Amino acid sequence: MGWFGPRPAESAVTLSTGGSAPVRFDARWVLKVAGSKRASAVGVVSEWKVAPMSTRDYGKLFHLDGRHAVVVGAGSGIGRESALALAAQGARVTCADRDLAAAEETARIGNDDRHVSTDQGDEVSSPDHRARLAAYELDVLDAAQVERAAGDLGDVDVLVFTAATNVRKRILDYTGEEFDRVVALNLRASFDLIRAFGNGMAQRGRGSIIGFSSIRATTVEPGQSVYAATKAGLVQLLRTAAAELGPNGVRVNAIAPGVVETPLTAQIKANPDWYAAYAAKSALNRWATPDELAGAVVYLASDAATFVTGSVLAVDGGWTAIDGRYDPPN
Ligand SMILES: NC(=O)c1ccc[n+]([C@@H]2O[C@H](COP(=O)([O-])OP(=O)(O)OC[C@H]3O[C@@H](n4cnc5c(N)ncnc54)[C@H](O)[C@@H]3O)[C@@H](O)[C@H]2O)c1
Repeated sequence: MGWFGPRPAESAVTLSTGGSAPVRFDARWVLKVAGSKRASAVGVVSEWKVAPMSTRDYGKLFHLDGRHAVVVGAGSGIGRESALALAAQGARVTCADRDLAAAEETARIGNDDRHVSTDQGDEVSSPDHRARLAAYELDVLDAAQVERAAGDLGDVDVLVFTAATNVRKRILDYTGEEFDRVVALNLRASFDLIRAFGNGMAQRGRGSIIGFSSIRATTVEPGQSVYAATKAGLVQLLRTAAAELGPNGVRVNAIAPGVVETPLTAQIKANPDWYAAYAAKSALNRWATPDELAGAVVYLASDAATFVTGSVLAVDGGWTAIDGRYDPPN
């Protein structure tokens, strides 16, 4: 017995069903043929089933209307662009950050930017004037604040968290205090966020949690020790959360960026050799801008990714695909 379909409509075929009138099937039908593993005109049709056509409106695959997204770290860099992109797809976005003024600026940019281009190229105001982005002060190093936020912010469909720090020092020079500081923000705060917001999502039976790992979860260089360890640890934390929350309809994924021009990497940009070496390492021969990460966030938040969980989505310009040591002659 074999199940067949869906087939492209243009490849619809006509089958004889053992004496009755020939039957034509196409993409909307799934055909079970006795004793055959391939759709074949000589098979005996033992059972017909009409598989429901997908009811998805692919034109709205990435739309987030009616969803509430919380972006932690929305005051800067990738978090800001993620918040703006989620709002542009229709989500109501809470821009959470320890730096309230920066979060307010993100909300202001997003709420002011409510114009659309007409076919004639004119810029007109969006018909929907409601403010979609709101700022929220949150220091994720304070577990009680995180817990309170999960209660205050109501139903949350999408949680994105980007807040992280790096102390670029060799292990022998690292202090215990620096270790604790990096782990506290990059790992412990992620743990608290997943628990606080994942709980409500699991109860409601839906949600998407998106954390930010890094190329440093897989490839390192001197000076990346603790940061790299937290980013690898975060992947396993998120994968386990995916395993535990999946049965409750909650998806959990990581995004692993390459090098992105943000305040986090300002130290590198200030050193021309370092900056150029990083640009040359990626297949695309350049750094990313933070808006280039926003598409991955929207994708994982949206119904385009309803079967995606426990994954690590690399958005690294090819950094982890190539070792970059040598370009052999043709
Ligand atoms: N920029 C890169 O090249 C790069 C590369 C790989 C991975 N990443 C990862 O991407 C994520 C985003 O990085 P980015 O470059 O946009 O960072 P960023 O430094 O530009 O932004 C971080 C934001 O987090 C906020 N924040 C810091 N501590 C906080 C706290 N205790 N509570 C709440 N908010 C706090 C900051 O105020 C800031 O708005 C990070 O997890 C980072 O590790 C970045």
